[in-house]
Parts: sequence; structure tokens; C-alpha cells
Amino acid sequence: MSTLAVVGAQWGDEGKGKVVDVIAAEADLVARYAGGNNAGHTLVVEGKKIVTHLVPSGCTYPGTRCLLGAGMVIDPEVFKEEIAEIRGQGLLQGDELRVSLDAHVIFPFHRELDGLREDASAAQTIGTTRRGIGPAYEAKVARRGIRVRDLLSPARLRERLEHNKRALEPEFARLGRDREIDVDALCAQAASWAAWMGPMACDASAEVLDFVAAGKRVLFEGAQGALLDVDHGTYPYVTSSSTIAGGVCTGLGIGPTLVDGVWGITKAYTTRVGAGPFPTKLEGEAGDRLRDAGGEYGATTGRPRDCGWLDLPALRLAARRNGLTGLVVTKLDVLACLPKIEICTRYADDLDPGRDGFDEAAPVYEAVGDWAGGPEWGERVSKARRPDELPAPVRRYLDRIEEATGVPITMISVGADREQTIRLSDAF
Ligand code: IMP
Repeated sequence: MSTLAVVGAQWGDEGKGKVVDVIAAEADLVARYAGGNNAGHTLVVEGKKIVTHLVPSGCTYPGTRCLLGAGMVIDPEVFKEEIAEIRGQGLLQGDELRVSLDAHVIFPFHRELDGLREDASAAQTIGTTRRGIGPAYEAKVARRGIRVRDLLSPARLRERLEHNKRALEPEFARLGRDREIDVDALCAQAASWAAWMGPMACDASAEVLDFVAAGKRVLFEGAQGALLDVDHGTYPYVTSSSTIAGGVCTGLGIGPTLVDGVWGITKAYTTRVGAGPFPTKLEGEAGDRLRDAGGEYGATTGRPRDCGWLDLPALRLAARRNGLTGLVVTKLDVLACLPKIEICTRYADDLDPGRDGFDEAAPVYEAVGDWAGGPEWGERVSKARRPDELPAPVRRYLDRIEEATGVPITMISVGADREQTIRLSDAF
């Protein structure tokens, strides 16, 4: 195997950053294919925390090529700041970064529109990250998006900006914004972006194909999760991109035959941030406990995440829609801290989320037998490097997940550090 896609199998925040960081040690190229700086990937390297939003999580390995694909939306101001921060940590010292000429650019007016819309109607709020992600994808589909390649062509850029101004100003006026979109100022700002982004702009599809043809290892890094996918998630409470493994092909411009394996990341429990259905959400103290134990606050927005038990029907759906070949279970140490846990094995009335959606889903729980949990278990789990070092009920819990999804567990994360990982299968 020479390529592997790593995707979120829940509603995002599954710990993909750490998993990609571990696997990226063996990769030559790490490529992101969707999303933008709505994502927040937390990496812990030798006790130091690095949070990335746009730069692929391969950035901690000198010389590993990091690619931002055409399916992404890129806010150059955020990108620039992030690169400076990562470089400040002694990483990305060479020319490792590449960005697709066809990736779309987030302008300040996209960000503003996202926030104004969220504020305008409490009834319809999605709880977006307010980073301009939706408006930028909307422009792309409306065929007035502005791509990295347009930044490099001032006349075309001006024309596209004028087009956007005409299209958006009525809505801005309706939403109470009293300034106009200043095309001259944006052209000047975009020229400064072009100066430093130009040298890293490339045909991302050709880049991936070159690595594959040379027998190199390529890791496709997902953002968000399957249930936030614009086509296959809990619509309309989703992000605006193709987060599932299929997005690798459209987002990077490669065929499905080039994706050798797909690993789905799931926490040992479930979290969600923003609006929309969450069948296994725990209200009150139980949810608070999980949030505290897991430090469940957004890496991008700092918002507290809703927490709940693991949802096997939802995970089965994610397994199907991604064609998962492996499952990575993260934050097992957090779950082990709890004295008693449950697992949702099905929804009442045989409701199938693929067919019936999630709105009426009433979870049916099973208690996990012999679970004692507590700090001693938490520590034992976080120190485990082999499955037989885990308490037996924890092992049975993992077996239950494999059995319910039909997907083998290939890796288990038992803490934020790279070393706190149990590896059961080779990635490549
Ligand atoms: P947007 O992607 O900012 O438009 O937000 C749409 C929905 O996706 C909201 O519910 C967000 O909370 C959610 N979302 C977007 N990115 C992430 C992520 O990286 N982790 C978790 N939720 C996310």
C-alpha cells in the first residue's frame, strides 16, 4: 500500500491531527483535500503543543511535503500567520509547502457574511465557526469563487471581485452592513498574498501523481468528519465540503483507484459542536464530566463541545460511506477514567440513520459489563502500548466496536503524545 486516507468518522474533533502526525512519520507527502481553517488540529510534539488549521499535520517532519488541495478554501491571512508560527517553532524551514492553484480563497467579506448571517437569525443558525467557510464554498458553486490562480492575474482578480461585489452587496445591505466592498483595497491586499503564495502554487493533482509514480507514500488528511459532510452528514447542520473519503478524489483531482486504504477516526465516545442532531448527547452532569475529562473545547473557536456516549449506528453509517478499511479509536484513556459507561448499539424502532435520518433517532444503550473505570484505569490505559496491557472490559469494549462496524481497529490512541499510541496494523 502506498496511499492512505485518514478521515473523521463522527462530527469532527476525533483527534485526526495526532493520528496523522503519527502516521506522517512514514509518509513522503501529506495532502489535505477539503475544508479550511474551520479545522483545528492539535499536535503534541515532545510536550510542545502545535495547533494547525490549514497546514497539513505532516509539518512536524522536516522534508515531508505538505499539500493543500483544490477542494480546500484558504484564508491567506490565517495561512500566513500559521506558517509564521510553525516556522517560529523551527519547523517548515525548507520549501515543503505547496498549495493548489485551484483552491478557493476566503476574503474578508466571506468571513463577515458568515458572522452576519449567524447573528441574523437565531432560528436558522448552524453554529458555524464564522471563518467564512460556507460563503466561500457557496461562491465556488455559484461560479464566482476566486481561486489561488486568480490572485496571480490582477486583471482577472479585479473582474471577479467586481462580480462578487455586485452579487453580495444587496445581502450585506439587508444585513445592516454600512460599508461597501472596497475592490481597490482588496486588490492591493491580494497582491501581497500573491507575492508569497505564488511560489508555492502548483497543480496539486500532478503533485500527488508524481509522488505515487515515484513509489512514495502519500497520506490524505481529512478535516471535520463524515457526519458533517455536505452530502452525507446531518444536513443542513453540516460544513460545506466533502469530508468523506470520496472527497479525496474530487478535492485533489485523482481517481479512486489511487486510494489504497481508508482509516476512520473515532473517539471512544462522541462529541459535537454547533447545532444539529446528536442522538447520544448527555445532558447535565454526565456530559460535563466527559467534557472536563476530555478537555472538550474547540481548538479553533474555544467553544465547549457537547459530549455523549459512542453511537454505533452513526459509526456504522460513517464506515459504509467512507468504505473504511481500518478504525482508529482515540481518547480511550479519557473514557477509562469514568466509573461507568454506556454504548448506543441501535436506535429504537429499528430506525436506520441512512434511510430515516437522525431527527427521530432514540438511542438504545447497553451498559458495558464489569466496567470499574477511575483514575487508576485511566493511567493504566494511557501507559498501555499493547492491547493486552488494557483492562479486560476495555478490550471487550473495543471488540464490540469492531463487531458492530465490521471494521478492524488498526490503532488506538491513549493520550496526546505520539508515544501514547497502540499500533495494530501498518499504515502503508
Ligand atoms: P462551518 O464549517 O464553519 O461552516 O461550520 C458548519 C458546522 O460544522 C458547524 O456545526 C461547525 O461547528 C462544524 N465544524 C466545522 N469545522 C469543524 C471542526 O473542525 N470540528 C468540529 N466541528 C466543525
